[in-house]
Amino acid sequence: MPPPPPPPPERTPLLHKPNTNRTLCYSLLFVFLLFCLLAYCTTFDGIHPRTNPSFSHLHNFCADIQPILAAEYLTRQVRLAQTLTHLNATAFIAEPGPSMSYYTNVKWSLSERPFLAIIRPDSLALSRVNITFVSPAFEVARARENIKHAGLLEPVGIVEWEEHLSPYDTVAKLLASTTSSPATVYLDTTLRFFIASALTNILAPLDIATSVSDPEIVTLRSIKSSAEIDIMRCANMATVEALRAVKSLVKPGATEDQIAAWTFRALEAAGLRKTWVLALVDDNAAYPHGEPGKNKKVGEDGGMVLIDAGGSLFDYESDITRTFFVPPTGSNLNMNATRLLAWHAVHAAQERALSTIRVGVACSSVDLAARDSLVTAGLANYFTHRLGHGIGMEGHEHPFLNKGNTETRLEPGMTFSVEPGVYVMGEFGIRLEDIVVVTSDGEGVELLSGGLAKGPFEF
Ligand SMILES: *[C@@H]1O[C@H](CO)[C@@H](O)[C@H](O)[C@H]1NC(C)=O
Ligand SMILES: *[C@@H]1O[C@H](CO)[C@@H](O)[C@H](O)[C@H]1NC(C)=O
Ligand SMILES: *[C@@H]1O[C@H](CO)[C@@H](O)[C@H](O)[C@H]1NC(C)=O
Repeated sequence: MPPPPPPPPERTPLLHKPNTNRTLCYSLLFVFLLFCLLAYCTTFDGIHPRTNPSFSHLHNFCADIQPILAAEYLTRQVRLAQTLTHLNATAFIAEPGPSMSYYTNVKWSLSERPFLAIIRPDSLALSRVNITFVSPAFEVARARENIKHAGLLEPVGIVEWEEHLSPYDTVAKLLASTTSSPATVYLDTTLRFFIASALTNILAPLDIATSVSDPEIVTLRSIKSSAEIDIMRCANMATVEALRAVKSLVKPGATEDQIAAWTFRALEAAGLRKTWVLALVDDNAAYPHGEPGKNKKVGEDGGMVLIDAGGSLFDYESDITRTFFVPPTGSNLNMNATRLLAWHAVHAAQERALSTIRVGVACSSVDLAARDSLVTAGLANYFTHRLGHGIGMEGHEHPFLNKGNTETRLEPGMTFSVEPGVYVMGEFGIRLEDIVVVTSDGEGVELLSGGLAKGPFEF
């Protein structure tokens, strides 16, 4: 139905006859002032694009990326249920956080009141799961809304606990009524101790043992689907584009605060949420995670800038580091040769690590390859941290690439950072970080960041 036509405007009787000349004058003045304001804004942006960059070219960078679909949540739940069955376990329990989101798409904030997801294989059908949330009674209506919003394909149950009673008692009753003992229940690795210990104590007399998540369960989340990889590829490429845009603004005189502020704006312009930035100049970058409370500048003779930044897209994290040289004012590219060599050594270490990544290789071997490469350059002692960490719904997650992790072997779909670094206290720090996914097609690895840095002055 078309909307009814608007009523004719009411004429208010004029109390005074307006002075038309004066009205015209005011109108002209108003238009003139508006014009001045507009001109000022345009010129301001033209003269000082570095003060207030809009990064509009980054808008919609990931516009064609879809969030995870309902069918994929069901696939995840069924894989978890089958793994639990394989491990002879009866349930997996998670608190609000990445695991709960991963399996149920339900988001809830952590508080002292336990809110738990209990995921169990269905006793009747192997391809089905039984998901029950344990919620504070007064929050049940909100929990129901949240679960509805999650759009899950399987029905989900809620059991409630009253504030004056024990939530653990509620869990015990639920498990006792549906579990034949003896049984094992796996607790998510991040489940808080007060909940884990209370559950352990209350379930023990029922002959139900609790155990922290088996590696087989942890591995489920570390192997990404193509939908997850699409999201992560875009999030990481957007981060690289954002850093590129920031790099083009960094000139001698730029402060760490300014570089960080630009980076936040660029990441947000690219559509990333929950953004974070570490921007360090020269010797401040010798601390791998920065030294807070300083505000350094790129000197007039040029310098080095390390930016480590990321954000999330549909709950998947990005994490990219670029270290680049800012030439002195003027066209002189005469930079410190020692530092340039160190940059190339870190780059070579990254390439060496990448060349070893294949299905079946131990995480330790990849770390050692990068370390080995730095031995040749005489810089191995300055590479003080592990090579990388898994990434997904958490910025740092399984698997961890350190030289001690001989247990974990790479599998197709694992995503992690490859980030060698060299840190010389009081002098400089260099880190280059890209995110990769292990592929199954014999290629070994795909760079989710689009490509490694091209050189010390460009990436
Ligand atoms: C599960 O139970 C079966 C039968 O009791 C046993 O053969 C198997 O080794 C158990 N698996 C694990 C992972 O404990
Ligand atoms: C899931 O578990 C609840 C509580 O134990 C039970 O009432 C319900 O019937 C189960 N649903 C399915 C589909 O097994
Ligand atoms: C070049 O960098 C190295 C390492 O930081 C430093 O020791 C050296 O003094 C620098 N050389 C010049 C000429 O600045």
